[in-house]
Amino acid sequence: METKKSERYANIIPVAELNTKEKRLLPFPVYNLLRRLTPVRFDESRSTWDVFRYEDVHRILKDPAAFSSVRMLSDKERETILTMDPPRHSQMRALVNKAFTPKIISELEPHIRSITNDLLNAVLDKGAMDMVHDLAVPLPVIVIAELLGVPSKDRDLFKEWSDILVKGPEENTDEAFYQVMAEKGQATEQLNAYFAQIVEQRRLEPQEDLISLLLSAEIEGQKLTDKEILGFSILLLAAGNETTTNLITNAVRILTEKTDVQQQLRHNPELVASFIEEVLRFYPPIQAIGRVAAADIEIGGKSIKKGDQVVSWVASANRDETKFADPETFIIDRKPNAHLSFGFGIHFCLGAPLARLEGQIALRTIIERMGDIRLAADADLTPIQSPFVYGVKHYPVVFQP
Ligand code: HEM
Repeated sequence: METKKSERYANIIPVAELNTKEKRLLPFPVYNLLRRLTPVRFDESRSTWDVFRYEDVHRILKDPAAFSSVRMLSDKERETILTMDPPRHSQMRALVNKAFTPKIISELEPHIRSITNDLLNAVLDKGAMDMVHDLAVPLPVIVIAELLGVPSKDRDLFKEWSDILVKGPEENTDEAFYQVMAEKGQATEQLNAYFAQIVEQRRLEPQEDLISLLLSAEIEGQKLTDKEILGFSILLLAAGNETTTNLITNAVRILTEKTDVQQQLRHNPELVASFIEEVLRFYPPIQAIGRVAAADIEIGGKSIKKGDQVVSWVASANRDETKFADPETFIIDRKPNAHLSFGFGIHFCLGAPLARLEGQIALRTIIERMGDIRLAADADLTPIQSPFVYGVKHYPVVFQP
């Protein structure tokens, strides 16, 4: 039997309530309303359950036996750890953890600092810049490209491909939907061809990079296949770039929207780590996480059936008043801050230490080198065209050099 479009890809069709530009720039009042009125609801148009409360989201993420990450993939998409369940997930994750240790990440610090300084040097004396284009996009792309061992000169291509991979349809029509699927298929093919060639080179001549490490890594006598290495490299690109870009931009957005917070950070730059955690809670780069029910199960008094799609809205959970005191206030040194922006449980973001490090270095450098940062007067903000990614396409700022 043929599956309907909405059944196969419900996750990527936007939520109707967030269909205007204004709502996508500031969706949080909508989440608050939905959390109060329909904390667990079935959305007919997407054939999907939406879950908005912290307690329920947390329960779903910590129970991979009941809520599976295995999704139906199109022919062009690859299976990655993101879309695996145990026991396969546990094996693969153990393997990639080896290539992604806190030590490897912390050693990147001086390098991330120097890339950040170089990028800012190029714009600093102008007193104006587009935070997205000039810093938030290139920084994570250069870092991940170098980590993987691909030439950073290809970074514009990378950006183009990763944009397409996280894109959602512009409207809820079959045409818009198939258009996006075709674009994604094409980008994935190009990425595959690109990485296949690099994997081949590294096999012949291993270097000090992640791809070489993945080629030699073993778990219980088993190596990763080329297909798995390709899939993982592409996942890092897709999962790591857009998200970190938006973390940096969203952090600068907070500085300009809340000048008191900008002052606090200037006076206490050592608060940068907790500032970044609060940005993650307040403006999460990924707003929702998808799962599929692996059995009939009840959540918030609703009966979810085996095979149903379930979307956990972390952006709503992060503002749940039963979990966070004064959730609508940005508190620079909030403690505790158990936001769910990197997920929770076995799929907890592999790149969280890297994303945190890049976010902290970027913001610390910005605060040190740029005075009185404001949104440019003529700025017209456009949300990123994706149902789950939260960020803006450009963020023009002015500042004192
Ligand atoms: C998983 C968010 C940066 C690589 C996840 C998940 C979330 C997330 C919510 C869990 C998905 C799920 O449970 O289905 C973010 C955010 C980032 C960020 C908000 C930036 C602020 C990165 C970076 C990398 C990365 C920089 C790599 C360089 C991954 C990988 C997984 C993952 C490989 C899959 C882990 C697994 O399934 O076991 N991320 N991420 N992420 N992230 Fe990130």
